[in-house]
Amino acid sequence: MRVLVTGGAGYLGSTLVPVLLSRGHRVLVLDSLLFGAKGLLPVLPHPHLELLEADVRDESVVRGAVSGADAVVNLAAIVGYPACLRSPSDAEAVNVGAARCIASCVSSGQILVQASTGSIYGKVSGPCTEETPTSPRTHYAKTKAEAEKIMLGSGGASLRFATLFGVSPRMRLDLLVNNLAFEAVHAGSVTLFQPGALRTFLHVSDAARAVIMAIDRFEIMSGRVCNIGDDALNHTKLEIAEEIRRQRNFRLQIDDSCTDPDERDYHVSYRYARELGLTAKVTLAQGVEEVLRAASFMQKSDTYRIGDA
Ligand SMILES: NC(=O)c1ccc[n+]([C@@H]2O[C@H](COP(=O)([O-])OP(=O)(O)OC[C@H]3O[C@@H](n4cnc5c(N)ncnc54)[C@H](O)[C@@H]3O)[C@@H](O)[C@H]2O)c1
Repeated sequence: MRVLVTGGAGYLGSTLVPVLLSRGHRVLVLDSLLFGAKGLLPVLPHPHLELLEADVRDESVVRGAVSGADAVVNLAAIVGYPACLRSPSDAEAVNVGAARCIASCVSSGQILVQASTGSIYGKVSGPCTEETPTSPRTHYAKTKAEAEKIMLGSGGASLRFATLFGVSPRMRLDLLVNNLAFEAVHAGSVTLFQPGALRTFLHVSDAARAVIMAIDRFEIMSGRVCNIGDDALNHTKLEIAEEIRRQRNFRLQIDDSCTDPDERDYHVSYRYARELGLTAKVTLAQGVEEVLRAASFMQKSDTYRIGDA
């Protein structure tokens, strides 16, 4: 299969692309390389990989790339509320505008997979299923909710990912588990606010498996939303900090006076993903262990923090 992956040089993309190649697919990555191409260096010599440095806002490039693909995986985005706050119009144009363009180019025989996010649930009491009304609070979550609607309208499968963790070739240290583990190693102390807020997590390699599943099972996932995560990985922020502290001692301070701007506090049901055959292979403890080991070799000055999202 020829698979177009927009944003394929990013945190999730640089884990996904090698898996697609190992499964025999031909992969075209379309990415503006906001964080460089380093994440794809190990696979760049692969004869079935083409890297196109381009912007998803460029309609003619997108049309050309989509027309040659059997499957389109749309990962390109301005990711996270801080990055979207810094540049709201870019976030709108990339997250929503490009989705609109891609949706208008795909034809009925093509597979379309959209990277959505559990952030669009906002603050919800009780378990969120795919039927729970969404309540996106931040500009990031609003753009992702809008993009999801557009992609579903064109028969796409929308994957509402949990917050990812773990080591990826293009590393991100702004994600909660990765961030706390990095601070535990480098600062030796972490201040946590909203410690009781419930969040939901998944290892980046399991997220890549979810994309593969959506491609393989597109006939039943087309036009549908699927929460991507695992019931065993719904945790409070405090539980995450405690797991890290079990493995690496650090000073934990709680500050109840601050809240997250996106007010996320929700418990997600992953029943549908489980029915489709997706459960997490990597536990929180394993993911924390790998990030702690990698963090020792990372510096604060590394580019992993630039564009934090
Ligand atoms: N990482 C998570 O925890 C998480 C959780 C839920 C959803 N998601 C979604 O998964 C997708 C991938 O996220 P990620 O963590 O890999 O983020 P990332 O920031 O590492 O990757 C995004 C990629 O998109 C590219 N990009 C940005 N603007 C572009 C443009 N105008 N044209 C072309 N490429 C552009 C960037 O260069 C980058 O390589 C996003 O759609 C995100 O919303 C991620």
